[in-house]
Amino acid sequence: MIGRLLGPEPFPSYVVVLDETALPDNCMEIVEVQERKILLARRFGKLYALDNACPHLGGSLGRGTLKDNAVVCPLHHWIFDLSTGKAVSGSADEKVAVYEVKVEAGKIWLKLPS
Ligand code: FES
Repeated sequence: MIGRLLGPEPFPSYVVVLDETALPDNCMEIVEVQERKILLARRFGKLYALDNACPHLGGSLGRGTLKDNAVVCPLHHWIFDLSTGKAVSGSADEKVAVYEVKVEAGKIWLKLPS
């Protein structure tokens, strides 16, 4: 399911992207922020945010699977580290952008690049 932007709130450069309860542990969600699809993942209690598009051929990482501290692309199974966005299998030079994310006031907030 694609989440929707709920709107900017009191924290500069952060936007609310999802209710905290909408992302259980060890799950992923795709949200759309300023025309970008971003993968939110909560893994072992920690939140991560990465570009949803796989740099190989554009597979939707949010439709993939979580494995250890990484996400596996559903198309050709390249694996990306949730913390760094770096490929840990597939092409070692590839990377997806990562974003700062936090929980505050019951919402998940994403920091947009300036
Ligand atoms: S599109 Fe992701 S590994 Fe090919």
